[in-house]
Amino acid sequence: MKCVLVHGSPRKQGNSSSLAAMLADCLRGAEVSHRHLADLDYSGCLGCMSCRKKSEICVLQDGISTLLREEIPAADVLVIAAPVYLDYVSGQAKLFMDRFFAYLSPEYFRQTDPNKKPVNSRLPEGKTGVFILTQGQPEGRYGYITEMMETFLRKMGFTYRHYLRGCLLNSSRDIQARPDLREQAGALARLLNERYP
Ligand SMILES: Cc1cc2nc3c(=O)[nH]c(=O)nc-3n(C[C@H](O)[C@H](O)[C@H](O)COP(=O)(O)O)c2cc1C
Repeated sequence: MKCVLVHGSPRKQGNSSSLAAMLADCLRGAEVSHRHLADLDYSGCLGCMSCRKKSEICVLQDGISTLLREEIPAADVLVIAAPVYLDYVSGQAKLFMDRFFAYLSPEYFRQTDPNKKPVNSRLPEGKTGVFILTQGQPEGRYGYITEMMETFLRKMGFTYRHYLRGCLLNSSRDIQARPDLREQAGALARLLNERYP
């Protein structure tokens, strides 16, 4: 299994990265690469529309180009881990996700028949997308973020989609006292181990 783990928090030892590491630690024989967005020099989508008019990939050349052009298309599993910042995902994660616009297929923009299953993505089928979110607030807040991520991952062509959410996590150390989250991460890893033996 090839797994690309994208960390969207500037706290490299923070809660979202720790939860992602709990998942990665339980992946059997997997090739896991970690990319910390805070280390990379990149911009959000510039709306140049080159990916619609003259290219099948994002033409921007910056710190996430290789990730978008090579690493994600080749991965079985993409994990995006991010904290809630002011009621949505961190800005680092949102800028990264906006660049996925280039993965949308031309059919996605042409579709007019609501009964026809759209071919949304230029990414190959069979991939798994995992979204990890950590927040200071309790459960019951930010369900809409998971809903938006479900739409995002489905639209981008991820055949399988999973979510891990850690609530009431403020200090970076809080997650160490949460065996429930470690257990959830382990259960998801077991499922991925079976899917990509
Ligand atoms: C700038 C900033 C904004 C935040 N906004 C929220 C928020 O709106 N709701 C919330 O529940 N937690 C908020 N938090 C808390 C973080 O989401 C929480 O501590 C999370 O576990 C941090 O993950 P990390 O350690 O991976 O960065 C905020 C933290 C920061 C630094």
